[in-house]
Amino acid sequence: MALRNILTIGDPQLRKKSRAVTDFNDRLHTLIDDMKETLVEANGLGLAAPQIGILRRVVIVVNNDGEYLELVNPEIVARSQETVGAYEGCLSVPAERGYLERPRKVIVKAQDRDGNSITYNLEEMAARAACHEVDHLDGTLFVDLTDQLYTEEELDEMLSEEKEEE
Ligand code: NI
Repeated sequence: MALRNILTIGDPQLRKKSRAVTDFNDRLHTLIDDMKETLVEANGLGLAAPQIGILRRVVIVVNNDGEYLELVNPEIVARSQETVGAYEGCLSVPAERGYLERPRKVIVKAQDRDGNSITYNLEEMAARAACHEVDHLDGTLFVDLTDQLYTEEELDEMLSEEKEEE
């Protein structure tokens, strides 16, 4: 296994559409293992292959139990109407966050590393992470979906002021 370099916003690779995986071979397994290691090291909640410059439809999402879900060719097949708002970030957009509404629950269909069909019902943070990572596969970043970006410092300041007002 090896750590991979995470591309940051401005890199054209992040804006491309990734292709479906058709070969469930050792190369795919190495990619997934490397992505997992890179995600653990970066302490993130999800990672998509294009973030390490591989334009293939592979993502890893951390679920609400802290498990690393490997999703090959993932599709969000159902979204709850109910949404949740939160300040979202991305390993490819260091130190910035933006407020986004995402569905509270989603159903994701995908394949595992051997090509078997899998389905997950995800909620809350894991639902958010799944939507965010699948967006990456089509070249969409969270900054496209929010009106205003905040630095971590601005956000800390804003949230502590809100707390004082309460
Ligand atoms: Ni991201």
